Amino acid sequence: MARFTGRTAIVTGAAQGIGAAYATALAAEGANVVVADLNAERGAEVAAGIVADGGTAVFRHVDVADPESAVALAESAVAEFGAIDHLVNNAAIYGEMKLDLLLTVPWDYYKKFMSVNLDGALNMTRAVWKPMMAAGGGSIVNQSSTAAWLYSGFYGLAKVGINGLTQQLATELGGSKIRINAIAPGPIDTEATQTVTPGNLVKDMVSRIPIKRMGTPEDLVGACLYLLSDEASWVTGQILNVDGGQIIR
Ligand SMILES: NC(=O)c1ccc[n+]([C@@H]2O[C@H](COP(=O)([O-])OP(=O)(O)OC[C@H]3O[C@@H](n4cnc5c(N)ncnc54)[C@H](O)[C@@H]3O)[C@@H](O)[C@H]2O)c1
Repeated sequence: MARFTGRTAIVTGAAQGIGAAYATALAAEGANVVVADLNAERGAEVAAGIVADGGTAVFRHVDVADPESAVALAESAVAEFGAIDHLVNNAAIYGEMKLDLLLTVPWDYYKKFMSVNLDGALNMTRAVWKPMMAAGGGSIVNQSSTAAWLYSGFYGLAKVGINGLTQQLATELGGSKIRINAIAPGPIDTEATQTVTPGNLVKDMVSRIPIKRMGTPEDLVGACLYLLSDEASWVTGQILNVDGGQIIR
């Protein structure tokens, strides 16, 4: 099955972890993939791995917090592949993030964090929607988290914002034939998670999840590709928990 043949997809934060899994899976289903990240060394490795497996990918540097950088990325994707059909807003400050309370987190850190983890998705969407519309429409997936539904300090607050952004933008973008949805993953076993979640906390979290294991990036791929694909052509503004049943409402 190749749902994305001839389509171009930008995946931010694709140098490692979940973003790298999304980029690889999109390429395996035929997409031209732009692996976009701050981390040039690892991003280039991900793109090279895709190409070595017979896919089409390029690495492009981006700082999603910077509107000019987001626009430059969109222009470069169009120059390389002729159009932008899909965007995955996955980049975030997560690995090795500060653990602090909303009440005490240093203000500069909080502002920087929100500029990446919340505004980054808006910057990227503002940069791609016109080329996407010009190509006849497209689809966007934002990376939220079950942290939005649980107490998780400023990290969770940014994800609450991502959920709101997804709903608000679905309304603004629908007329341009652009769909936007979000995935809210539960705890996923990535390098980054190992730096922020101590082993005993993981054990406790997993014991309370109906499917008693952590997720893997590959557990998220099916949901991401579904939401991006034409199979979801009448789905927009939704937040899909992919979390082993961690959140049941
Ligand atoms: N791992 C989990 O348990 C989990 C659960 C729920 C949601 N998420 C979300 O999934 C996404 C990826 O998680 P991960 O575990 O793969 O994390 P990760 O830290 O491995 O990946 C984040 C990537 O974003 C990049 N990045 C950071 N700031 C950037 C910027 N300003 N511009 C461009 N790129 C930038 C990093 O270089 C990195 O490659 C994040 O949005 C995270 O919040 C993760």
